[in-house]
Amino acid sequence: MIRATARDLLHRGLPAHRIRVSLERNMRCATGHCGHCQLGGVLLCRDGPVIGWERAESLLSVREL
Ligand code: FES
Repeated sequence: MIRATARDLLHRGLPAHRIRVSLERNMRCATGHCGHCQLGGVLLCRDGPVIGWERAESLLSVREL
C-alpha cells in the first residue's frame, strides 16, 4: 500500500523529497539495541520511523517486507 501510494503521488507530480512514509510496524525495544526493527541498514526506531521516500524506496523494494 505504501509503495502504491508513493508511486501514485509521484505520478501526479509530487516530488520524491516531499513524500514521507511511516514504517513503524516492526518495533520491539525501541531503543536501537535488539535489531528487531532493522530494515536494510536502517534501525527504524532510531532512524525513523518516518523517513523520506527517497530513502524508503530502496528499503521497500523487496515485496515481502
Ligand atoms: S526496536 Fe529494537 S532496535 Fe529498533
